[in-house]
Amino acid sequence: MNLTLKIWRQKDATSAGAIKTYQVSDISPDMSFLEMLDTLNEQLNEAGEDPVAFDSDCREGICGTCSLMINGQAHGPEVTTTCQLHMRSFKDGDTITVEPWRAEPFPILKDLVVDRSAFDRIIQSGGFISANTGSAPEANSVPAPRDKAMRAFNVATCIGCGACVAACPNGSASLFLGAKITHLGELPQGQPERWTRVVDMVGQHDHEGFGGCTNIGECTAACPKEIPLDVISQLNKDLRTAMKHGL
Ligand code: SF4
Ligand code: FES
Repeated sequence: MNLTLKIWRQKDATSAGAIKTYQVSDISPDMSFLEMLDTLNEQLNEAGEDPVAFDSDCREGICGTCSLMINGQAHGPEVTTTCQLHMRSFKDGDTITVEPWRAEPFPILKDLVVDRSAFDRIIQSGGFISANTGSAPEANSVPAPRDKAMRAFNVATCIGCGACVAACPNGSASLFLGAKITHLGELPQGQPERWTRVVDMVGQHDHEGFGGCTNIGECTAACPKEIPLDVISQLNKDLRTAMKHGL
């Protein structure tokens, strides 16, 4: 495949950025999107030009670091992570526009790399549980109903990629936040700090500058882990209960 790429280039956090156009050739449909960008970077290196900076780590859909807006869609046209998107989703001769996540709490560091440490601070603000020290407890000593355990496992698949924020017109991180709140709130081990956790995490979310949820649903459509929208209802429900407790 031969492709035209329109890529956001930005020298650093303080410089202005712009879209630049590149041509890449001999792209196999079996390559991942990131391997296609690797090919472009080899080409740029050979020409003595600055390669395009982008994030990746596991390249297996696990770590959540790859994060690209591809033709205006977070992670591109498939429900998957950018690293698991394959070039067979595009056609020979296509023009593909590649941009970083656009959200104020995710400032651009260089080219396609954004700073997502706001997510770490949200987790840090409430992401712990009380556990007695000592050897690991007997697994069956804390009964967890199966439906609650399954829901907790399902929402714990959130990899913190930030696609939900990038897709949301309000730049809200409610889907991410709802996944984290639901994951711990469903399990018996998550109960002692349940109400203070939701208040602290929502407070940090707002402090970071993420917007509010207005039920548009772009987040769940863009989420590579298909986190359902009802985690946001759970988030609001827990917050209301915490407020009733005077928190
Ligand atoms: S909820 Fe989905 S889109 Fe949002 S951070 Fe988690 S995995 Fe990524
Ligand atoms: S590089 Fe780890 S999820 Fe894509």
